[in-house]
Amino acid sequence: MDWDIKGKYCLVTGASSGIGREIALGLAKLGARVTMVCRDPSRGKAALEYVMDGSGNRAVDLMLADLSSQGRVKELATAYRIKHNSLHVLVNNAGIIMAKRELSVDGIEMTLAVNYIAGFMLTNLLLDLLKRAAPARVVNLTSSLHKAVRLDFDNLQGEKKYGRDLIYGQSKLADIIFTNELARRLEGTGVTANSVCPGAVSSNIWTHASKFVDTFFRILMKGPAQGAVLPLYVAASADIAGVTGQYFETGQHLKWTAVKTGGTACRPSDQACDLETAKKLWQVSASLTATDGLPRPSGSQ
Ligand SMILES: NC(=O)c1ccc[n+]([C@@H]2O[C@H](COP(=O)([O-])OP(=O)(O)OC[C@H]3O[C@@H](n4cnc5c(N)ncnc54)[C@H](OP(=O)(O)O)[C@@H]3O)[C@@H](O)[C@H]2O)c1
Repeated sequence: MDWDIKGKYCLVTGASSGIGREIALGLAKLGARVTMVCRDPSRGKAALEYVMDGSGNRAVDLMLADLSSQGRVKELATAYRIKHNSLHVLVNNAGIIMAKRELSVDGIEMTLAVNYIAGFMLTNLLLDLLKRAAPARVVNLTSSLHKAVRLDFDNLQGEKKYGRDLIYGQSKLADIIFTNELARRLEGTGVTANSVCPGAVSSNIWTHASKFVDTFFRILMKGPAQGAVLPLYVAASADIAGVTGQYFETGQHLKWTAVKTGGTACRPSDQACDLETAKKLWQVSASLTATDGLPRPSGSQ
């Protein structure tokens, strides 16, 4: 399958800082048309200038949306459709860690809302554009921390027990399960879906992590530019054209270790590959969002 990112329409969420901003920069440097989705106007404008100046590419634009709100996600999808009406690469990157349990305007636990539900919705809402533009790609940012938890449907939103790492891990596990199910549902369409853990990256996300991580461990982490290498590879490389339903991980977390782009995917946790869990998560997500325009995979309900 031919694949060249030059001139392709790419949308990156969480592009105001950290890994997302570097993914946007990397795509712009490769000659893609990049839409950066940010929630704060001034941080967004600064990031847009950073990407334009750093790449020399003028085909970069900014769209604003607070992705914790389902209404804003829908408005974003509509506004994107009006503005560009084409999409080849969707990178669901926006993410948070929350020290305390908070609810979104829709009454959904905030970590789940931003890290998982927003990507589930945005992907569904823009799927027809991706299919029309195929070959196209969905890239979902996840974390190897998903291996430390299991998805508990009775505590998906921390209703019974809230722990920052537990709920973050569950949201990142949901990202992988969703990605794999999406890949199955998109078989034969030319749209691929893969998830990627960028490794441990020093970024704003750790502000709400434990003091130990935010102070001591952060010093050892690699920078956002290094953290963007693998996501960029999954989003843009011709090496993995047609590869779908895979989980990519660097295995390299510290700043002094070389970052391999790595063409080989690895196996996520057992539950991340479980078909029944995937089916149930899709149903739960559809009921939480009233957004489910996707065809069922062959052989399933
Ligand atoms: N850093 C790591 O070690 C690591 C490891 C594994 C996976 N990841 C994943 O990598 C992704 C990027 O994280 P990062 O490390 O680059 O963190 P970051 O620097 O904090 O970036 C997170 C991005 O998400 C945006 N965001 C947060 N809440 C939002 C909302 N409600 N609406 C719209 N945008 C929102 C932030 O915007 P603001 O600037 O407005 O806050 C920011 O642009 C996340 O999905 C994370 O889970 C990171």
